[in-house]
Amino acid sequence: MLPQELIRAKRDGRELPPEAIAEFVSGIAEEHIGDGQLGAFAMAVYLNGMSDAETVALTIATRDSGQVLRWDDLDLPGPVLDKHSTGGVGDLVSLVLGPWIAACGGHVPMVSGRGLGHTGGTLDKLESIPGYDVAPDQARFRRLVKEAGVAIIGQTADLAPADKRLYAVRDVTATVESLPLIVASILGKKLACGLDALVMDVKVGSGAFMPTYEASTELATTIAEVASRAGTPTTALLTDMSQPLAPCAGNALEVHEAIALLTGDRREGRLLEVTRAVAIEMLLQGGLAESTQAAMTRLDRALSSGAAAERFSRMVAGLGGPTDLLERADRHLPRASCQVAVHADRPGILRRLDTRALGMAVVELGGGRLQAGQAIDHAVGLSDIAALGERVDDQHPLAIVHARDPADARRAAQRVLAAAEIGDVDITPPTLIHEMIR
Ligand code: URA
Repeated sequence: MLPQELIRAKRDGRELPPEAIAEFVSGIAEEHIGDGQLGAFAMAVYLNGMSDAETVALTIATRDSGQVLRWDDLDLPGPVLDKHSTGGVGDLVSLVLGPWIAACGGHVPMVSGRGLGHTGGTLDKLESIPGYDVAPDQARFRRLVKEAGVAIIGQTADLAPADKRLYAVRDVTATVESLPLIVASILGKKLACGLDALVMDVKVGSGAFMPTYEASTELATTIAEVASRAGTPTTALLTDMSQPLAPCAGNALEVHEAIALLTGDRREGRLLEVTRAVAIEMLLQGGLAESTQAAMTRLDRALSSGAAAERFSRMVAGLGGPTDLLERADRHLPRASCQVAVHADRPGILRRLDTRALGMAVVELGGGRLQAGQAIDHAVGLSDIAALGERVDDQHPLAIVHARDPADARRAAQRVLAAAEIGDVDITPPTLIHEMIR
């Protein structure tokens, strides 16, 4: 089908045959299709949607538009597993999860992204580790996945190239917010990593990518369904993002938090709970545990024995970082020179947080990007962020700002104050794990 005919069919609300979608998407990757046609296609899909069959076809075609990783020649002793999150503030699940799963017998070839808007990016966090190479060659990546069980790296040009072009056009044609396009974009990239199973963490709340609970549920349901129909068993969790997941946000601060969790310095909290829930699903999906209880036992052992921390260490060293990061994190990770505690205007209960605004405070401190390609400051961010339902007063700050200088710190403090609602009546903290969709 000619590209203009396919666009016309979609414009007029007709269902596209899978072969026509496959041909169109390979035309995107091979650059036979121009940006004008891409924009028109994206708008036609945005306005008219896609059937499940069309979304599956778009996902498979996106996955197959470049290299699809294969692991069978490596004779891996365990399954190839991954997770994807729709992103959030203080969401450093990947940093802990990858090594944790590796320590339980899984192999995690995690291809991650950079920060987007108010949300932090796994690659930016890892780049706060001196020497860590997010773009190793294939041989090194594969060797680490085999030997350490985990490697977290950046997107390569060969992986789902059709998505790269289509996303860039969507970004400037007001067509990002289309469910089938989002699903095919996320899954196309993930499924190109040759996974045996995937777990999706879809966020809900004031810091989430999707604007409402209903939209997040629809995304989670569609992703689980489409990925499974495309041949990769997938479970989706709906988890809370109405406050930062960890008590910190900012690149090096989040690496510190990951190390605290992996080494047992922090033994509880929302981050650990969500990471454990995702990990349980991954072990079940990968056949590494037969029941939730068995998965929990295996995970607890991998954490308390130090095996998960050791996998993290091997990954960092294998990608060029220091061999003693776990022992000397303070020496290796950058630290902001100006640290200021932000206190609420009056004592009370923290009743609500605008999580997106906290994420933007980190971006404005220099910890994220206002424009693609901008350099970032890995040291800045927020730590000791109070949790919803906690009491804040002169002794208990809303957060500590880590900034380059006092002027930046003052601006960020204003942001934090404006993001917090303080009251006198206790609240029940929000549910952390809302739903599991299989
Ligand atoms: N993340 C992606 O990778 N693609 C989208 O379309 C939206 C979020």
